[in-house]
Amino acid sequence: MDQDRDGGVDVSALTLADLEAMDRDDPLRTLREAFTLPDGVVYLDGNSLGALPRETPARLQQVAAEQWGRDLISSWTAHDWIGAPQRVGDKIARLIGAGPGEVVVSDSTSVNLFKLLAAACRLRPGRPVILSEPANFPNDLYVAQGLQGLGIGRIELQLVPADRIEAAIDERVAVVLLTHVHYKSGAVHDMARITARAHARGALTLWDLSHSTGAVPVDLSAAQADFAVGCGYKYLNGGPGAPAYLFVARRHQAATTSPITGWLGHARPFDFVDDYAPAPGIERFLAGTPPILGIAALEVGVDLMLRADPQCLVDKSRALSGLFVALVESRCAGQSLELASPRDAQDRGSHVAFRHAQAHAVIQALIGRGVIGDFRAPDLMRFGFAPLYNRHADIWHAVQILRDVLQTAAWDRPEFKRPCAVT
Ligand SMILES: Cc1ncc(COP(=O)(O)O)c(C=O)c1O
Repeated sequence: MDQDRDGGVDVSALTLADLEAMDRDDPLRTLREAFTLPDGVVYLDGNSLGALPRETPARLQQVAAEQWGRDLISSWTAHDWIGAPQRVGDKIARLIGAGPGEVVVSDSTSVNLFKLLAAACRLRPGRPVILSEPANFPNDLYVAQGLQGLGIGRIELQLVPADRIEAAIDERVAVVLLTHVHYKSGAVHDMARITARAHARGALTLWDLSHSTGAVPVDLSAAQADFAVGCGYKYLNGGPGAPAYLFVARRHQAATTSPITGWLGHARPFDFVDDYAPAPGIERFLAGTPPILGIAALEVGVDLMLRADPQCLVDKSRALSGLFVALVESRCAGQSLELASPRDAQDRGSHVAFRHAQAHAVIQALIGRGVIGDFRAPDLMRFGFAPLYNRHADIWHAVQILRDVLQTAAWDRPEFKRPCAVT
């Protein structure tokens, strides 16, 4: 495939056979076999809920039946349940350029955000501002608003457009809170540059890596990032509601504390003393008992991701999304679609969004035909490309069906226009 100067791909002469040939040459092709995907479905929503690894049901059965069922409570030590958050955290660390002991698996992304935002604000006591961007993933703004609402010290949430973030970092900013890959557009922030700017102004950075890990290059150490959080159920394929992870740079660990001072973050939880004393390292950001079955499923997904060459992952992710954009723009021309993601693959994550006035109905019609993407209000269709299991030929089929749905107005039916509780 030829890459145009603007990042576009010339697909005029491309055939399905060409894409099938690319799949045969794909260095990641054997990893697709490690997933259970239904026949006849093109799954382009792994950026929301990753697919099921084949090994996960057996691993869950093993942990439940052989460990929980047979060894009962002794499993905490016999099967190192107690060390699972750190063990899997260390594995995730390898995917995001962090060192051992800098990442731990715990809670949800939302709860981890709360813990690290509070920790960051405490590290910069004279500075009231949490700086973020409007239309950041709303959850992250809500969590910041919740912290603000506690009324402990003065905290202000300041939102400035992405292109003005760096200029807005001043001596009032405690922490810059950004989603590295934007959840709608897929636009990527320059983590190293924003972090350097924040540090030059005495501020800290907290990165939400939910749409990044396993999809785009992330190197927290090289960027000198301070804090990060991320989801386990997207590209890491940990399953619905999988536990999340958090990163605290080693240089900050001794001086930061979690606002949720739970017993498993205590230095000696089994001394059962009345007063809290934080554990020496990243463990201080644990709170309560870890969800062992959830971590077991997450570990299967993380182990699979670790089997892939990181450069192959990034190359394939860019190739798939580039191909999708180019095919949609050529095959669906005149159908009132507008690309709502950066055109250059280097500037976006592994999902792309197209704007369409009937986006919700079109997505529902696509799902009805086995092409699963999602809708983000008010008018975006979002398609994610998981390099571990999506194939080049999937893109071809998805675009053929999208073209048909648009050309025949197959979306224009009452059942596709009904509001859904989850989009
Ligand atoms: C950027 C981002 N942050 C956080 C979350 C969700 O966090 P939680 O797992 O706590 O619901 C999502 C979920 O889609 C997300 O896209």
